[in-house]
Amino acid sequence: MATINQTEQNAEKLAAALAAVKFVKDGDVVGLGTGSTTTFAINELGKCVKDGLKITAAASSIRTEELAISLGIQILDLGSLSEIDISIDGADEFTETLDLIKGGGGALFREKIIASLSKNTIVITDASKKVKKLGAFTVPVEVIPLAYQYVSDQINKLGGKAILRLAGEKHYITDNGNLIIDADFGLIADPQKLSFDLNQINGVLAHGLFVNITSKVIMSEGKDIIIFE
Ligand code: A5P
Repeated sequence: MATINQTEQNAEKLAAALAAVKFVKDGDVVGLGTGSTTTFAINELGKCVKDGLKITAAASSIRTEELAISLGIQILDLGSLSEIDISIDGADEFTETLDLIKGGGGALFREKIIASLSKNTIVITDASKKVKKLGAFTVPVEVIPLAYQYVSDQINKLGGKAILRLAGEKHYITDNGNLIIDADFGLIADPQKLSFDLNQINGVLAHGLFVNITSKVIMSEGKDIIIFE
């Protein structure tokens, strides 16, 4: 893959976002992810709503909710939903088998709830996110604060290296009031097993391995749109 600059990368993010928004129909409940790529999609959805598209939406973070509301998109209470028609979200890494690492932006828990509720989970990326094996990006793990040392020790026992995420000199705090441990497992041979093992640790609210949950990845590379499903 050729190295590209930020302008070109943003053009890829925008192209993937525009391709994804075409799948949204009148009447849909739309799950909105978080991150720079998803922001392009939310902006486009805002334009569509101004042009008459009738949708409601659920947001995966406070910043996404604020952006959507500012664009006139009606936001529903995520906790009250049993189903979402379509969701659009980014990823930090993905494989052709549709396994993902997410949560670089810290919104993994609500993103996972949205993906779990969604009938059609669309992930949008530029070409830099595609990998043969997950793991160059660390796996974000959202933990209840009083369990962070215990969870760190368990991650280390699983062969990872647990690093508590910071925001400046303070702990990074999620929208849910929790901490994030960025867990470095190196290249991950079996994402499904690691996902299971992380879910077994008391104190883990959610982790950023998204396995068997994505319907399609829309990747933009240069002038091409490539869909993995
Ligand atoms: C937010 O918590 C993440 O899961 C993002 O979806 C992911 O980090 C991708 O973000 P960008 O689109 O900004 O790369």
